[in-house]
Amino acid sequence: MIITGKYPNLRLRRNRKADWSRRLTQESSLSSNDLILPIFIVDGKKKKQKIKNMPEVYRYSIDNIPLILDKALNYKIPMVAIFPYTNPKLKNNSGSEALNENNLVCRAIRYIKKKYKNKIGIMCDVALDPYTSHGHDGLIKKNEILNDETVEVLVKQSLLQAEMGCDVIAPSDMMDGRIGKIRKALDKKNYKNVQILSYAVKYASSFYGPFREAVGSKGMLKGDKKTYQMDYRNGIEALREVSLDIKEGADMVMVKPGLPYLDIIKMVKENFKIPVFAYQVSGEYSLLMNGIKKGIINENCVIESLTAFKRAGANAIVTYYADKVAKLIK
Ligand code: PBG
Repeated sequence: MIITGKYPNLRLRRNRKADWSRRLTQESSLSSNDLILPIFIVDGKKKKQKIKNMPEVYRYSIDNIPLILDKALNYKIPMVAIFPYTNPKLKNNSGSEALNENNLVCRAIRYIKKKYKNKIGIMCDVALDPYTSHGHDGLIKKNEILNDETVEVLVKQSLLQAEMGCDVIAPSDMMDGRIGKIRKALDKKNYKNVQILSYAVKYASSFYGPFREAVGSKGMLKGDKKTYQMDYRNGIEALREVSLDIKEGADMVMVKPGLPYLDIIKMVKENFKIPVFAYQVSGEYSLLMNGIKKGIINENCVIESLTAFKRAGANAIVTYYADKVAKLIK
């Protein structure tokens, strides 16, 4: 222990006596540099669609991307994450739309890179769930999610997104061995500077509900994702996942969901000293937002929660509050 004095010589309240003093002695803080904003994309023109259970989050058609992206830019949010709502008619068993160079994500990347150049980073999920008719992240055979066969497709999906101009490839599928394969393929095609943010520690969670609604995979999901996403009872296993992904070439790792997993964020940061990101997922967003809407809690709860991620050791947080919070703390 480092406390050297004792009461009444030592009064810990002294440093808390005024706002300026509290600011001076604070151990962590939240700025817009710490935020990553997810954006949902939908087909069509001039669209801004509401999402059930995610108040104030919308799906935008590509021509409407500036409605949200200009805000992110204005508030100096460093990166956005693109998620597609795929037309159900384009979904199939193998998720082949993932490899269509004119799919929503590819068109959105091209649009953003053309209009905004390198002023803001783009991150894209690598996984098949927005494209499969069964809602799983990988290929399926007799109710089994195939690992190695899926990785082959994920490598292609990653290369395609890199080719379109994606800055950060973010595999969120939890297949074994995909980071190494993706890194190798990217390097071979000379995408040496494309970063990999591995969702290394992704739990099979009930907090993803509203997201699945947002990307339209909710009604489609057959069963659960427990054979590939982690068991929420486990912590040590997270270290094994992270160490594996670092060896395979991950530049940054993600822990997901967020608030119930602060212990994991802290443990990963302390053990590996690499950039750790956290994902405050859709269910967390909805809970907070509904509480605020009903007047049970206020917006400060959002800042408090996001600062808690920083205190635990997160470098940045993916959050549907990014634009709203950046405005609040500006
Ligand atoms: C897809 C993916 C999911 C989320 C991000 N990417 C859902 C899932 O794995 O079922 C969840 C995000 C959220 O709930 O906000 N691989």
